[in-house]
Amino acid sequence: MNSFQHPRLIQGGMGIAVSNWTLAKTVSRLGHLGVVSGTAINSVLVRRLQDGDLDGSTRRALTQFPSNEIVSNILQTYFIDGGKLQNQPYKRAPLYNLKSSTSLLQLTMVASFVEVFLAKENHAGKIGINLLEKVVLPNLACLYGALLADVDYVIMGAGIPREIPGALDLLSQNKIASLKVPVAGSTSEDQNVTSFDPAEILGAAFFKPLKRPYFFPIVSSSTLALSLKKKSTGQVDGFIVESPLAGGHNAPPRGPMKFNDLGEPIYGERDNVDLGEMKDLGLPFWMAGYYATPEKMKEVCDLGAHGIQVGTLFAFCDESGFDQILKDKVISKIRSGQRPENGWVFTDPVSSPTGFPFKAVRLDGTVSENTVYESRKRICDLGYLRHAYKTESGEVKQRCPAEPVKDYLKKGGLIADTVGRKCLCNALMADIGMAQIQSDLSLEKPLITAGDDLNNLIKILESTPQRTDRAGYSASDVIHYLGL
Ligand SMILES: Cc1cc2nc3c(=O)[nH]c(=O)nc-3n(C[C@H](O)[C@H](O)[C@H](O)COP(=O)(O)O)c2cc1C
Repeated sequence: MNSFQHPRLIQGGMGIAVSNWTLAKTVSRLGHLGVVSGTAINSVLVRRLQDGDLDGSTRRALTQFPSNEIVSNILQTYFIDGGKLQNQPYKRAPLYNLKSSTSLLQLTMVASFVEVFLAKENHAGKIGINLLEKVVLPNLACLYGALLADVDYVIMGAGIPREIPGALDLLSQNKIASLKVPVAGSTSEDQNVTSFDPAEILGAAFFKPLKRPYFFPIVSSSTLALSLKKKSTGQVDGFIVESPLAGGHNAPPRGPMKFNDLGEPIYGERDNVDLGEMKDLGLPFWMAGYYATPEKMKEVCDLGAHGIQVGTLFAFCDESGFDQILKDKVISKIRSGQRPENGWVFTDPVSSPTGFPFKAVRLDGTVSENTVYESRKRICDLGYLRHAYKTESGEVKQRCPAEPVKDYLKKGGLIADTVGRKCLCNALMADIGMAQIQSDLSLEKPLITAGDDLNNLIKILESTPQRTDRAGYSASDVIHYLGL
């Protein structure tokens, strides 16, 4: 397939399960690229099962997974017929390690299979999966599960995913693949890798030929794109070029971090990407981050882009995974012309344990309000954003700057790293209506992320006739708004 056959519009991957299979499937059926999020997908699966899988879609997908034995272990461990009681906490999946248990890797592989299978079910459109390079430990299992469900594209950001193309080559041949894991305090002699062996985790009896999907890294500069094109372990097929106005995590500004009066990182000229330089790389690329209008799409395509990737406008549409109550709250405030004094979106330089700036919607009752967050008792029970470090005895362990401060310090972490950090894992699960009830009976609160384009959501609301049954809009309204 040459680049001209790739879809021009990509619905960006949005974790955790904001771009779920329902949204990706809808976009894909309309002829564009729908992308599911693979981030924390094992927790999404176990919580869907504990919510009773009321429409049966998850269990329908599970019947299509090659190994019945693996599936029945998962169902026995997590499925609750009719759903858990409302005041009952969710049973958690185990946390990842450099060498995670077989059952956790099986769960991850199955969860990602389910998401991609459902997104692709009963139509011929293309589906991608989005993963974060920084959340390295589940990634190989997640990729293999997606390959088993015949995923068409893999899109990866939040880091430099140099080793993923080679891993995709190996996994698509059912071969063992490994990724280096950055470990604080380790030396160049230490071999810190995480591996996935399909023969061990799935079983060679279930092998079938797998397609190697297209791989698009997300970049914030043409220099990084060039380096990924030249120095990756396998083929890179295109790029998503993301600006700091995009929702979710953003690349930090180039040079020393400076802040505006509101405490947001200041981006400058050096952060702008030269589309001419991108074009010279000879691979298709899509612009992301505040490009979601027909005019901007035309402008960047005239300069050599293949198309655009859009997140924020899709994030609040009917089909997205955001909890309906949260969506309604944001949409009704925007419809009624309410706008926080400094705009809807704050680029928080410290909240994310990844160390990358993270966009937060200014919405009362969510943890974007520091007063709401400060009352939360710190706990790290999902652990996706933990960093690996080497202990004095040479063991590799993990710590998260958003975990209880005393635990982080005991693990050799610095107090300065804990300041302002938020537990995105729990907050993002709360965003999709799967908030954990903690042992002190508190309910985890949401933290919505969106790009600066949220300030333009009013345009799509105004161009979409208001229905009597609800205030929202659909994915197809977004596509219509984009003139596609
Ligand atoms: C709610 C939300 C969650 C996001 N999560 C991710 C993510 O998990 N991984 C990722 O690569 N990008 C993520 N993004 C970025 C989108 O994939 C997309 O590149 C971006 O939203 C495009 O810019 P726009 O927000 O102006 O449309 C997220 C964006 C939003 C709005």
